[in-house]
Amino acid sequence: MSESKRAAGRLAADLVESGTIVGLGTGSTVFFVLERLSERIREEGLTIQGVPTSVDTETKAGTFGIPLATLDEVSAIDMTIDGADEIDGGYQMIKGGGGALLREKVVASLSSRMVIVIGADKVVERLGTTFDLPVEVVPFARSVVQRRIEALGGAPTLRTDKENSRAAYLTDNGNEILDVHFEAGIADASGLERALAEIPGVVESGLFIGLAHDMVVGQEDGSAELSSKARQ
Ligand code: 5RP
Repeated sequence: MSESKRAAGRLAADLVESGTIVGLGTGSTVFFVLERLSERIREEGLTIQGVPTSVDTETKAGTFGIPLATLDEVSAIDMTIDGADEIDGGYQMIKGGGGALLREKVVASLSSRMVIVIGADKVVERLGTTFDLPVEVVPFARSVVQRRIEALGGAPTLRTDKENSRAAYLTDNGNEILDVHFEAGIADASGLERALAEIPGVVESGLFIGLAHDMVVGQEDGSAELSSKARQ
């Protein structure tokens, strides 16, 4: 499993050009991106500024010696490299397995190019068939949002803290996450993204539509391949 992630992460990090601002996604595949960027900074003198999408990535990037910037300091991002939980043939994605969906979507929305790094197991025919959809919600509104999501055909489960299963997991923004199961997967991802956004109390959903430009798919044999979305 980690060999495919490593291969994808390293190839994507090699696409980064000196003098650019790079959005740094979150997760175990992005770890290998950070590792390779750090190598390139030391060995080639690569100069970049990274914009982290989570506290976890900020900490790891700092340890790797990657110079960082905040959204107060930059207004546009040249390239973002991030993982995904599922991606389909139209480059629509489910993200948020690591809980960083809100900051990831903000950073993606500012990026000229978004490159997704994944192992081959993340490519699906239909979203929602192998992974439940994370939805970030304001704690105050959780029960209301749960009922509204049920009315849309989803079965939400409150994500719990890894260390204390009786406590709700909290995002970097102090919100909770509902992981929503759709029995037959998600037929209309754009429509569902809009419907969720209309529910008061929903902060963001893990549906990423029209944001990814490229994907790097890694294999367990250590190979990786870059493909790009056809322009419409
Ligand atoms: C975090 C994410 C991650 O990109 C996604 O969960 C994939 O993670 P990993 O690379 O560890 O499989 O969306 O919010």
